[in-house]
Amino acid sequence: LHDKPLAGKRVVVTAGPTQEALDPVRFISNHSTGKQGYAIARAARNLGAETVLITGPVSLAAPSEMEVVPVVSAREMFEAVKARQDADIFVLAAAVSDFRPKVVSDQKIKKRDAALVTELEPNPDILAWLGEHKRPGQKLVGFAMETQNLEENARHKLEAKHCNLLVANDLFVPGAGFGTDTNVVLFITPEKTRRLEKTTKEDLGYRILEEAAGC
Ligand code: C5P
Repeated sequence: LHDKPLAGKRVVVTAGPTQEALDPVRFISNHSTGKQGYAIARAARNLGAETVLITGPVSLAAPSEMEVVPVVSAREMFEAVKARQDADIFVLAAAVSDFRPKVVSDQKIKKRDAALVTELEPNPDILAWLGEHKRPGQKLVGFAMETQNLEENARHKLEAKHCNLLVANDLFVPGAGFGTDTNVVLFITPEKTRRLEKTTKEDLGYRILEEAAGC
């Protein structure tokens, strides 16, 4: 048994939310804390991989012995991922905002000037882009958080984004989701669906890499 099965491999992990500015003081975002993504990055490092953690704004301490790339918006995260497109394994655990405000005001929007409707435009889908540009041997892991039709929606994502593994969690299951230290997930691969027992996000980090890398 090799205790550094990912030695010589390059692993890129995205984590946390993205923030999409409306003006210098406000943004659109979500409840992601980065816990699961950070745990995956630590597991990759501990398994011997050369690890890059691309992280949206979170309040977790930056882990040691890896490259940590802080980003704010989805477009910044996309650029950071594209710059590392030749990695061996990608685990995209970030909760990327699907949309951003079409116009970002360079001054604080005053109440009297505010429109009650803000126009949004779509952000790039980073995982879909990696799937389209997938290189031979590359492994892609995506996440899906759903509140209904979990397996069906997640399997659709696996196929649409050309992933090797889709980790699906149901936001409404106790012990899963935002800010918890545990997770309850399905592993969806092109061949099958497997339901994992409730486990810590730390342990799940190792299981995800084992499944993706076959180690
Ligand atoms: O948003 P969605 O449920 O489609 O996200 C599924 C997966 O796609 C996640 O792994 C997420 O990190 C990734 N994603 C992305 N870029 C986006 C939206 C989602 O990489 N703009």
